[in-house]
Amino acid sequence: MKVLIIGSGMYVTGREGTGTGTILSSLAQISKAVAVEEVVVVSKRISSSKTVADAAERINGLLKSSLNVSFKSLGEDSQQVIAALQAEKKFDACIISVPDHLHFSVGKICLGLSIPTLMVKPLTPTLAEANELVRLAEKNKTFACVEFHKRYDETNLWIKKSIEENKIGKLNYVTVDYSQRIDIPMKTFKGWSSESNIFQYLGVHYVDLIYFLTGFRPARLVAYGTDGILKNQGVDTYDSVHALIEWQNPNDASEKFISSLNTNWIDPNCSSALSDQKYKVIGTKGRIECDQKNRGIELVTDATGIQQINPYFSDYLPDENGNLKFGGYGFTSIATFIHDVMKLKQGKISLAELNKHRPSFMESLTSVAVVEAANESMKNNSEWIEVGKGDD
Ligand SMILES: NC(=O)c1ccc[n+]([C@@H]2O[C@H](COP(=O)([O-])OP(=O)(O)OC[C@H]3O[C@@H](n4cnc5c(N)ncnc54)[C@H](O)[C@@H]3O)[C@@H](O)[C@H]2O)c1
Repeated sequence: MKVLIIGSGMYVTGREGTGTGTILSSLAQISKAVAVEEVVVVSKRISSSKTVADAAERINGLLKSSLNVSFKSLGEDSQQVIAALQAEKKFDACIISVPDHLHFSVGKICLGLSIPTLMVKPLTPTLAEANELVRLAEKNKTFACVEFHKRYDETNLWIKKSIEENKIGKLNYVTVDYSQRIDIPMKTFKGWSSESNIFQYLGVHYVDLIYFLTGFRPARLVAYGTDGILKNQGVDTYDSVHALIEWQNPNDASEKFISSLNTNWIDPNCSSALSDQKYKVIGTKGRIECDQKNRGIELVTDATGIQQINPYFSDYLPDENGNLKFGGYGFTSIATFIHDVMKLKQGKISLAELNKHRPSFMESLTSVAVVEAANESMKNNSEWIEVGKGDD
């Protein structure tokens, strides 16, 4: 198996050049069970070469793995460099982790070359772009999936099963509170935070999750954005975005529920986790409440302040022999994609079967439609907007 990674930022190599990153760590862990001969990371600048080499060395040291990672800079012509690399290496899979507004152009290159693709969320900011990628994947019969890792979190799976078992009756409403420290738009993603917003970049996770948990379709929405804090400091995006979405049962349009999502990108930097997140599902017979930040572990030191730890997303923990192993639902999401690609190659599963059960590009049109409608609503004085269907 040969894997191409596009982007060498936080999600690939970790934070501030000292971390390990979810994507590279996952591939190193997978390589202990599946033959991953080679990983090539490409991104804009040659200076990322050292970041990638250092992260690979740290990861191989921690896992006692020998993942073969190299780097190439894309320069000004991504299309040409990726096409030449593909002709030489014949990658089996590609993982795209670049800023939101570039997902379309980079996705188009990879699907144009028929490379099975895993895209970080959101698929794209607009339906027109997402539709084009869906059509390209269909035309080239290429597996294409979005890395919606919350679909693999056991707490969310338990809630999905409970809703399906009718434990809380018919759905009435869902509330979500999701926010991140102000350092994320101001420093970590300073290069592109003005091109996105907290709802598009982060809230989209819960849009997809509500769709995944309930099977209902978004019908219309209204969104409000507040601003001032980030704009005053030179980052041209909303401080917070609030969306009220009406969802309909696809089998019975009279059955509806409402979700309200409150998202912000201005949490104090002393917040006890990078992301603060909780949600509630209220039904006619009961409620489910889920704190996705406070998982029951608190670290308190002078150096860190109070930190709430989530060891379930992606982390290095000792295995039964005391060796470090990388795991969590972030890992499961990436490992599932790599295993799917292998099974497809070996003819053990069909593309149609995968498209039925994975957050495929087609399946992800729903979350793109909501992101587009929310952006449209905010541009138009917070009007109610019909959510597009994405299959035109
Ligand atoms: N950080 C996370 O925990 C996380 C988790 C899930 C998804 N994501 C998503 O991943 C994407 C990137 O996030 P990140 O945290 O890695 O961001 P980042 O800002 O740390 O890194 C972005 C990377 O993209 C590269 N890049 C920029 N323009 C490019 C181009 N034209 N061609 C190729 N590469 C280019 C940059 O060189 C950099 O390596 C975003 O869409 C984000 O929503 C991030």
